[in-house]
Amino acid sequence: MDTTKSFFLPSEGSTFAPDVDALFHFVLWVSVAFFAVIMVMTIIFVIKYRRRGAAPVLTPGFHHHTTLELGWIFIPLVLVGIVFVWGFKGFMALNVVPKDAMEIKVSAQKWFWSFTYPDGFNTIDTLVVPAGKPVRLLMSSQDVIHSFYVPDFRMKRDVLPNRYSIAWFEAPNPGDHHLFCAEYCGKGHSEMHGRVRVLGEREYSEWVEKSAFSGEGMSLEEYGSHLFASKACITCHKLDGSAGTGPALPGAFGTQVQLTGGSTVLMDENYIRESILSPQAKVVAGFQPVMPTFQGLLKAHEIDALVAYIKSLQKPKPSGN
Ligand code: CUA
Repeated sequence: MDTTKSFFLPSEGSTFAPDVDALFHFVLWVSVAFFAVIMVMTIIFVIKYRRRGAAPVLTPGFHHHTTLELGWIFIPLVLVGIVFVWGFKGFMALNVVPKDAMEIKVSAQKWFWSFTYPDGFNTIDTLVVPAGKPVRLLMSSQDVIHSFYVPDFRMKRDVLPNRYSIAWFEAPNPGDHHLFCAEYCGKGHSEMHGRVRVLGEREYSEWVEKSAFSGEGMSLEEYGSHLFASKACITCHKLDGSAGTGPALPGAFGTQVQLTGGSTVLMDENYIRESILSPQAKVVAGFQPVMPTFQGLLKAHEIDALVAYIKSLQKPKPSGN
């Protein structure tokens, strides 16, 4: 995380965050000031007008007090007016996308995010953007309602199936920011988080060049290794031989795999391919059916590369298999 951090708000990572915070603080401190005035007056009146002696002393009736009445009409009116105009300007800033914004397609599905960049490649769970450039997000969901929420950007928008929602932001400084799903979307909702990585202009173009790369000059295995990390397979399939959210892959190729339901399957090229495209078809015993499908997110030669890589993975400790 970067930039300023206030006492209880997350750091300010977008161009509109400081204004959102300023309005929040205005409302907060106006409320605090009124609270203080009302409390102090209450205490003073309780003491000053307390009952003294046995005989009740009644407050003499009085009629209106013009100055006081105008005061309690116009002071709140001005304050509410300030909040309205300020809030409306902020609302417009959040909703009117600058014309020169670059567009990134955001796709939400149970339970991950995928981002498609202007050059046609995609990333999973990490949105990478250039600093100091407006970014327009064209978002849709493959299944249920999700919500794209970046607290540092003071930005949250629902992502719906069957329609696009649009949001934008500009992050002035390089740095990493949390991305959450802010709409309960099922069992994996709490796992549906990622990050927004803001890169400097040069780092961003280098990154685009690297990501648009489709394996030229690399062996299929090497390219598969590159994809295994960039498509975030590695978050669930650990390479140290331990089981993560998904089964450990090193050394598994060519073995019989025990499935949920009691049957077994030979871990071969077809089983790997099927598990990438239809992960729920044959779930390994002891694991939850939580892997998302990569149907439509991987090109044929990318699947070939991943298969080649998984095939090549050896158990970390050569202990005879
Ligand atoms: Cu997606 Cu909660």
